[in-house]
Order: sequence, then C-alpha cells, then structure tokens
Amino acid sequence: MTDDSRLTAAMAEVADRIEKTLTALLPRGNGPEARVFEAMAYSALDGGKRLRPFLAVETARLFDVPDSRSLRAGAAIEFVHCYSLVHDDLPAMDDDDLRRGRPSNHIEFDEATAILAGDALQTLAFEVLADPATHPDGNVRADLVAALASAAGAQGMVGGQMFDIAAETAGAAFTLEQITRLQRMKTGRLFDVSCQAGAILGGASEAERAALAAYTDALGLAFQIADDILDETGDAAEIGKQVGKDAAAGKATFISVLGLDVARDRARSIALQAVKVLECFGTRADLLRQAAHFVVGRRA
Ligand code: IPE
Ligand code: IPE
Ligand code: MG
Ligand code: MG
Ligand code: MG
Repeated sequence: MTDDSRLTAAMAEVADRIEKTLTALLPRGNGPEARVFEAMAYSALDGGKRLRPFLAVETARLFDVPDSRSLRAGAAIEFVHCYSLVHDDLPAMDDDDLRRGRPSNHIEFDEATAILAGDALQTLAFEVLADPATHPDGNVRADLVAALASAAGAQGMVGGQMFDIAAETAGAAFTLEQITRLQRMKTGRLFDVSCQAGAILGGASEAERAALAAYTDALGLAFQIADDILDETGDAAEIGKQVGKDAAAGKATFISVLGLDVARDRARSIALQAVKVLECFGTRADLLRQAAHFVVGRRA
C-alpha cells in the first residue's frame, strides 16, 4: 500500500464509523418538533470529509484510547462543525445555496429551521461529551467540554467568523498577520480541539499536547490556505459548494494578500512544518503526517 492509499483507507474507515456514531446520537421522533430533527440529520449525515473526527480518533490511537470513546468525541466536534456550516451558509452570512453537493440547510428547509438545527447540533455536541459513555472520569469529560467550548466560542470559531465578516469590508486593508489570526480562530481552533480531545482522552503529557498544538496550528493554516485556493480555482461540482465567492465579495483572504502562487508554496511549506513537529510520537503518527499533505493536495 502506498502512503496515499493507506491514508485514504484510514480516513474512509473513520468516516464510515463516524457516520454510524452520528446516526445513533441524533434525535428522532414524531410531533411538531420532528422537523428540526430532520434538518439536523440532513446537515450532519452523508457528507463531508470528516477530517476533524479523523484527527480525534487518530490522535487518541497514539495513546491507545479505545475508538468507542474517541468516536464520540469526534462526533461531538463534527456536530459543532456541521452547525457552523449551516449558519455560515445563511443569507445573513455567506448566503450560499450549495453545501456538500446538496442544497444548503436553509434552502432545503427554511431559515428559521436552519438556525434552530444549528443551535441544536451545537448543544447535542456538549450532551455527547458530558455523557459517561464518552469517558468514565468526570474530570476528563469536564476537560473535553471546556476544550470544545473554548474552541467553538467567541475566542475561537465564532470569534473567527465575526472577524471574517470584517474581512469583507476591510478587503485589501487586512495584513497577512490579521488574516492568519482570523483563520487560526475560524478554522484552526476546531482542528486543534480535535487532536486535543484525543490527547485529553489519552491522558497525554504537556509536551505531547504542545507537539499536537504545533501540528494543528500548521495543519489548520495549510487547510485554510487550500480552502481559499479552492474558492478561487476549484470546481463547484467537484467540491460541492459555490466557488468564486471570496473574490466576488472583495474579501481579504490568503489569496488576496499573497497571490495564488505564493499561497500554494506557503501551504506546502506549512504542511512540512506540521510533519516535523510530531517527532515525539515516532512512526505511530505517520497517518497524521500524511493528513498534513492531504489537506494541501486535496481537490475538494
Ligand atoms: C469547510 O470545512 C469549512 C472550513 C472550515 C473552511 P471542510 O472542508 O472540512 O468541510 P467538510 O466537512 O469536508 O464538508
Ligand atoms: C467558514 O469558512 C468556516 C466556518 C467556521 C464555518 P468559509 O466560509 O470559507 O467556509 P466555506 O468555504 O463556506 O466552506
Ligand atoms: Mg464564511
Ligand atoms: Mg462560507
Ligand atoms: Mg471558504
């Protein structure tokens, strides 16, 4: 097996198992509220690369954590990610009609339902982490809850989304430092909590957690540069979301500041940094290393 096919197989295995985990955790039932259950399932199931759960499961494996626990933590983070996408596509935000190759949640349902589905996916995430099935030790569960709340909240993803709205009006006035900080918050923090969740479940040392933080910092930036490149050069049918939106909005991105060629080189060199910082885990971290190359080489 080549490195690429090993990573593809490992990602497919986690994606398949996470799909089952998400399905089992989603609410179901009848009655007037069933519409929000349906909208939650619509945006959580059957789509996406499932990169964040992959990072959670693969990191947890470094510490011999049973997959049954890391799949739950990964599912919680994926629920938050899916909520962020539902809200990101709303007319008040990016106003995107296409997500994961299908109509966005508010197109398939309606805006009020999409807002509520996002809200409920977020709270479900914390319910899953707080459940003893995720870890028998309440302190570990509290650490997971605190880590996800911090990564998703006003100083993490939500703060990054606020900052991102400012990038639309700032246009060329944003510096590379500002864009880097924005992306660390908007995208990087959810990648970071994915690896940190595996580390928390595994009782990792401070040094191990710092190595993982350095890895996800580089991974998140490389990933977001690739996202910006795909917005500029990708094919909507292939990536399953609208393209060309950033430039049309005159938004400050890595591409508007660096240009395409420099952005491509930078993504590759940042991915190489991600590969280097995991020495303390030896060959056991090879799939995480390959994931860093995957995020910059991806076409979707
Ligand atoms: C898209 O994330 C949103 C960003 C943070 C740029 P992904 O590219 O991981 O989306 P899915 O989950 O694969 O659809
Ligand atoms: C959104 O970033 C990241 C989130 C926190 C949801 P983008 O707006 O660039 O994500 P896409 O390109 O719509 O997936
Ligand atoms: Mg956006
Ligand atoms: Mg968007
Ligand atoms: Mg984008």
